[in-house]
Amino acid sequence: MLRAVAYLAEDICSFEFVCPQGRPLPAFSAGAHIDVHLPGGIIRQYSLCNDPAERHRYVVAVLRDPRGRGGSLAMHEQLHPGAMVTISVPRNHFPLAANALSYVFLAGGIGITPIMSMVAQARAAGKPFHLYYCTRTPQRTAFLRKLRPLIEAGVALVHHDYGDVANSLDLRHVLRDYPAGAHLYYCGPVGFLDAVEHAASGWPAQAVHCERFSAPASSGASDDPEADAPFEIELAKSGKRLTVAAGQTIVDALVANGVEVDVSCRQGYCGTCMTRYLAGQPLHRDSVLDDEDREDFVMICCSRARGRSLVLDL
Ligand code: FES
Repeated sequence: MLRAVAYLAEDICSFEFVCPQGRPLPAFSAGAHIDVHLPGGIIRQYSLCNDPAERHRYVVAVLRDPRGRGGSLAMHEQLHPGAMVTISVPRNHFPLAANALSYVFLAGGIGITPIMSMVAQARAAGKPFHLYYCTRTPQRTAFLRKLRPLIEAGVALVHHDYGDVANSLDLRHVLRDYPAGAHLYYCGPVGFLDAVEHAASGWPAQAVHCERFSAPASSGASDDPEADAPFEIELAKSGKRLTVAAGQTIVDALVANGVEVDVSCRQGYCGTCMTRYLAGQPLHRDSVLDDEDREDFVMICCSRARGRSLVLDL
């Protein structure tokens, strides 16, 4: 049940979900998100921003975006306190590395949401961290009051660019040195992510972690001749064999053949369609899985196969 909606900043509200029977909710870790099922069959993923130690509620914060795909408008305009809303259990594709010696958090705008949860978890674990939070103006800065003690303690910096790229935080300076054992977590709009990725190029790849709210500009584009070739999939549990045509996704081929699968973003960044594969070599096109995950899993909404076939654990 949606218990409360609260104004956080210009165009940003928080939404608090609780169990209507007052029971504890499944535990989550920092970086996790939930699927929210909205009117009109829309499903959207939102990062949890509350303290993972809390078991009585899930809180998300949503930026109202009139140019978006409709999810944020539905959240802001169609959900009201007391409404029964279907949400998923939390899933986490952006977890904190437990073995990190310290954390650097970089948030752009509404990308602060998973980072707020990470800050709470890092503090509870007694891990040193530094937060850099970039927004346009103080009026558009969620959680400003909550962060005030951290700003005063010198472990958080809030930077406003007032809509002028010339005023942007000097990310190259922030990420110039790699503190041994540190892990970097960053989240925000595409331009911010690209800038951080560039500025962090001197950091070890395994210490850099990003969460996207949309597919990267380059996803799907490829000069690889296999990129759009047809291939076969075999469903290990039923023994069914299907052809995925050029221009078709694995999900499309499954649905066309009466196989139901969970999907949401259909662009490879939400993690909903993650599927184990048992043989063959995927042509990965998602922005969720790391190299280790890719040895076992494939995002079937956007990825294809290298070679002729792929065996899925379906
Ligand atoms: S549906 Fe979002 S990653 Fe596939």
